[in-house]
Amino acid sequence: MTTAVQISGLTKSYGKQQVLAGIDLTVPTGTIFALLGPNGAGKTTLINILSTLIPPSGGRATILGHDVVADAAMVRRSISLTGQYAAVDELLTGTENLVLMSRLSGLSAADARRRAAELLADFDLSDAGRRRVKTYSGGMRRRLDLALSLITAPPVLFLDEPTTGLDTRSRQSLWQSIRDLVGVGTTIFLTTQYLEEADQLADRIAVINDGLVVAEGSAAELKAQIGTELVELRDPSGRLLAEHPTDGTIDDLQTVLAGLDRSAYPEAQVIIRKPTLDDVFLALTGPAETSDHDRMELAR
Ligand SMILES: Nc1ncnc2c1ncn2[C@@H]1O[C@H](COP(=O)(O)OP(=O)(O)OP(=O)(O)O)[C@@H](O)[C@H]1O
Ligand SMILES: [Mg+2]
Repeated sequence: MTTAVQISGLTKSYGKQQVLAGIDLTVPTGTIFALLGPNGAGKTTLINILSTLIPPSGGRATILGHDVVADAAMVRRSISLTGQYAAVDELLTGTENLVLMSRLSGLSAADARRRAAELLADFDLSDAGRRRVKTYSGGMRRRLDLALSLITAPPVLFLDEPTTGLDTRSRQSLWQSIRDLVGVGTTIFLTTQYLEEADQLADRIAVINDGLVVAEGSAAELKAQIGTELVELRDPSGRLLAEHPTDGTIDDLQTVLAGLDRSAYPEAQVIIRKPTLDDVFLALTGPAETSDHDRMELAR
């Protein structure tokens, strides 16, 4: 197995603010890697360093063995990037944007027109292809932006929050495009705010907080950190009355339920809960709206 992205001791500071505080990550080729983290964690900064848009302050990163600083030109030839904010030309039509970018990628005029039509169809934009982008909705721009990064299947594709602002159908169609790309050997490095997206797509996930990797693994490994399933007893208003860990088997559940004093909880509802990636995320990054009490519950 070869390595697509290798990051070691990577740091980035803006003045006194340290945004990345020493990141180490390895992404094997042909896999999907998802970077999760709250707003301001440093996700876009990391993607911008990996795609040579900004230099790191320290440490090292390579893409397919090419150093992002010393071999930036080689890196640019190996990658494609869709940024967090759409970068399409508003005055051109969807088709014109795609044909222009295809020509810049080296396709002939005929191939560029054919590829533009294919991508418009893939992203459900065929009817809008002749309209200027300034008349597009936010979701349409986002889809066009993604189509632009997929003109040629690059060895490594960086996607910064690719599905933010997309509706469910567009999101699922993008997930399928991403899976198709991995099928032809592309490595995907994406950031997302949607834990379900990481859960569905990613082979490996890293959670960053305050510029450091605070957890890394497959979705299943991260969930296992939170522990086994829980039997919860809640009153009708949802307040937690009691909880017991369980392995989820019928035998164990029967034992847990038999051990509960029914008269003590006359109105209690029984809930069996598996840890979700949201639990992992909240336990690791603890947003402001989560109380300390909730965090302790989640971390248990
Ligand atoms: N050019 C810059 N100059 C100064 N500070 C910056 C610059 N770019 C980013 N930052 C700071 O670096 C931190 C990380 O920003 P970054 O955009 O990487 O976060 P993010 O994880 O992508 O957040 P989001 O989820 O909101 O997209 C933030 O505190 C941000 O204010
Ligand atoms: Mg960002």
